[in-house]
Amino acid sequence: MIKKIGILTGGGDCPGLNAVIRGVVKSAIIQHGWEVIGIEDGFDGLLDLNKCRPLTLESVRGILPRGGTILGTTNRGNPFSYPVERDGQVVTVDLSDRVVENTRILGLDALIAIGGEGSLKIALELAKKGVPVVGVPKTIDNDLRGTDLTFGYNSALETATDALDKLHTTAESHHRVMILEVMGRYAGWIALESGIAGGADVILIPEIPFDIEEICASIKKRSGRGRRFSIIVAAEGAFPAGGGRVVAKAADERNIIERLGGIGQYVAKQIEQCLEMDVRVTVLGHLQRGGSPTTFDRSLGSRFGTKAVAMVAAGEFGRMACLRGRDIATVSIEDATSELNLVDPDGEIVHTAEDLGIMMGR
Ligand code: F6P
Repeated sequence: MIKKIGILTGGGDCPGLNAVIRGVVKSAIIQHGWEVIGIEDGFDGLLDLNKCRPLTLESVRGILPRGGTILGTTNRGNPFSYPVERDGQVVTVDLSDRVVENTRILGLDALIAIGGEGSLKIALELAKKGVPVVGVPKTIDNDLRGTDLTFGYNSALETATDALDKLHTTAESHHRVMILEVMGRYAGWIALESGIAGGADVILIPEIPFDIEEICASIKKRSGRGRRFSIIVAAEGAFPAGGGRVVAKAADERNIIERLGGIGQYVAKQIEQCLEMDVRVTVLGHLQRGGSPTTFDRSLGSRFGTKAVAMVAAGEFGRMACLRGRDIATVSIEDATSELNLVDPDGEIVHTAEDLGIMMGR
């Protein structure tokens, strides 16, 4: 018998998180009369009971068009490997027992965790320790398996495509090569789909290591046809064949993953060496994670939120809401986090790009 549920948002934020929170709170209260506890700053909030507060219908009023998350988030706090300072040194400790104990103290009958691969892996470990968990797939990178799409991705695509449209006009006026660096650590979905939608000439993704000489040759060929400008879109995780990713900041005890960044500048330097063209780089960065969610993400987020509540009511724990075709379904969190959803270098979307004459770095 469910009476009280908790909800948290973990990992990098993205547009649509508030739509999910609103969907959960509304359907939990309206359909079931449950109490909902909002947990602040991802799993960190379960280490500090002061970060847990009731969410009411009033708390979620007007948040549907708002970017970010009203609960706050972090992409650092893994309670199984939590950084603490000891004798002036940062060490990691396992605080997961405290998280489990706090869910008991809060009286939570279930926990809805909204997150990407990292956060859902933590949720899975908590499920193994007996916490009844339901997952909701979030990430602008769209790299989570087990769902056709994650929410947030569509909004990020809109931002990237809009940037490409704007770069086009100035690139054409100045006869320049414009490089747009977008997010996508391991998966090049944003670069690939915004590149197709925004009419890019070259798309570089982590799944296809690129050859700089081939890129220069294709830009030269384009110039030869009278097209004196070119647009390149590069995922932050793209890298040259035989080389490695461009890292802006290495991982340490506090930052579990390295910070990527700089591939745009790297490609620009190489192109300037082989072509006599003016090159400029735009790094789109966190603009992709901000702003109001698109209609698609508001709808998908709302559907995921209400589905998560239905899953709690049905006792479907250890599972994640997902999109299958046009329908909302469920998948085990274990399956969804077993490997990443990467672009198939020989799949239909890459072939579409190549059929359009877009150079894919190879
Ligand atoms: O949300 C995923 C992501 O956008 C990655 O593409 C990117 O590498 C990372 O987040 C950056 O996160 P932050 O700068 O917030 O640590």
